[in-house]
Amino acid sequence: MTAHILWPTFLWEGQEDPTIALTLAQELLPDDYVLRDWSDVRPWSSDDLLHHREEWTYARDRILEEAVRYAEYSGILYQNLYITSMWVNAQYQRQNHAAHRHPNSLFSGIWYLDTPPGSQCLMIYDPRAGTDVIKPRTREQQGNIGVAAHAGSMLMWPSWLLHSTQSITVNELERPRISLAFNIMLRDSIDDHSARIDYL
Ligand SMILES: [Fe+2]
Repeated sequence: MTAHILWPTFLWEGQEDPTIALTLAQELLPDDYVLRDWSDVRPWSSDDLLHHREEWTYARDRILEEAVRYAEYSGILYQNLYITSMWVNAQYQRQNHAAHRHPNSLFSGIWYLDTPPGSQCLMIYDPRAGTDVIKPRTREQQGNIGVAAHAGSMLMWPSWLLHSTQSITVNELERPRISLAFNIMLRDSIDDHSARIDYL
């Protein structure tokens, strides 16, 4: 007998020294973050071109290094990978991020820089339509999954995968939860029967 694994979805996790992650958060946040009025109900985000800034070179290189490992593990063939956008998110209590996908990208991910106790977890949603019609008990976790946020942890997933940031598990956070988000694209030719797109 052979069990074939079909349509696997890989959630990748790289690990960086939490001290390095915290240093990035403390030293590289722009002025508009420092001046932010945290009574605002909207999460704060920086501009999304941080990968072009010299001070973020270390983070950019680490993300690409991990993306290459992820692509290799996933069996994706490509010429090279590059970051299309990279930005910092800060979320305080009562600030969520609704379920969404990242269009025009291969991989998306998040690197947790500062995660005070009770920080919002990442929710990723089962992409297999109809699997909720019966939910037998299983040894491995199935269905929608919450991934706890730990400083230093770098998560990566296919950009089509629906995800969100859910509410916190404590009434008050000591300080905002800070993460570095990014999108990654590949350079290669993608052939199909109906269309051809060259990403060069
Ligand atoms: Fe996202």
